[in-house]
Amino acid sequence: MDIMTLLPEEFEQILLIKRDLHMHPELSKAEHRTTGVIRAFLEQLPCVELLKTGTPTGVLARIPGDGSGTEIALRADIDALSQAEQYESPWKSRNEGVMHACGHDFHTASLLGAALILTRLKAQGRLKNTVDLIFQPAEEGTTGARALIDAGLFERIHPRAIFGIHNWPSIESGKIVLHEGSLMAAKRNMTIRIKGRGGHGSMPHLNVDPIVCAAAVIQSLQTIVSRNTDPLESVVLSIGRIEGGSPVNRVADQVEMMATIRSLSNEALERGISRTEAIVGNTAAAYECDWEIIWEERIPAVRNLPEMAESAKLAADAAASCGITDAQPSLASEDFALYGQGIPSWFFWVGSRTKGEGVEELHRPKFHTDDQAMRQAAQLYAAAAMLGAEALIHA
Ligand code: NI
Repeated sequence: MDIMTLLPEEFEQILLIKRDLHMHPELSKAEHRTTGVIRAFLEQLPCVELLKTGTPTGVLARIPGDGSGTEIALRADIDALSQAEQYESPWKSRNEGVMHACGHDFHTASLLGAALILTRLKAQGRLKNTVDLIFQPAEEGTTGARALIDAGLFERIHPRAIFGIHNWPSIESGKIVLHEGSLMAAKRNMTIRIKGRGGHGSMPHLNVDPIVCAAAVIQSLQTIVSRNTDPLESVVLSIGRIEGGSPVNRVADQVEMMATIRSLSNEALERGISRTEAIVGNTAAAYECDWEIIWEERIPAVRNLPEMAESAKLAADAAASCGITDAQPSLASEDFALYGQGIPSWFFWVGSRTKGEGVEELHRPKFHTDDQAMRQAAQLYAAAAMLGAEALIHA
């Protein structure tokens, strides 16, 4: 048996944890019970040191190597979504309106599985690398990685490389996706405010109507994708919310819109951001409105860099029993990308679709994972910890 194999009794342990977390999902920044479950699991393992995170939720732990290797970080996310679960199982969410609809319970349990493998190897004197385990809160909304980094993550750990995993429901269970280059999108969310001057609807000449201006802004913003973007690059701009005005015979004072702009290219995202500013500002001026855009933090693209490809392949080969594949990138975003701004990083997808079933996408009310794939995910994390810097060290 390969040393990186998750033993059957170890799989049973993480399956229990996964089902427990699934029944008790918690929203971003409120993962208190989840944090307790992870800590309790790690505390009963030999040689695991729990470190401070500096955040109210989340867990940071270290398994020390024998001093002859390097340091590798592994990251899982732990939060759930505001979503009522419609998938029937004995482990259905018991927290009404909250659901693990992105499978972060799968990631958490898999990383705990890797901790079982790595502490077993440590006890056998076979763990060279020091391994940092990051259980990140608040990935949904992409604020958790920033919170951990700002709270001093990289003063507590000094990894040579970092690896992350997301389950992927369009890929068959257990298959590992190895994709060099951009895998997930750069993103920036914004709130746009168009401010007019309200008044009676029968006297438009005495008022400034922000609703008409907002209509022009919405139409014009779509030209960023159609006219300002290289057709061979992908950019998406979606306005997800618009609010303004009441009652029917009154011109509104203000319209507020919330939008997201995304691209697989950080450069294309920057171009989209500057065009958004120009279109909103100039359109507002043309309609005699005031305006502002409140930008959220930029999340960079998840980019799997060529210099990490050989290490990632070594890890995938050591972990895979269900095969390795490639896949089209996604314009979903992941704040794992923020860790990769300082250190070499690689993000894997692991297939989680039950054989013979259709695809139930992430964030849908009937989303579920084939938990058998946690074997490959746990083994992949462990293999990345053991081998993930081999090619870097020897480069
Ligand atoms: Ni997710």
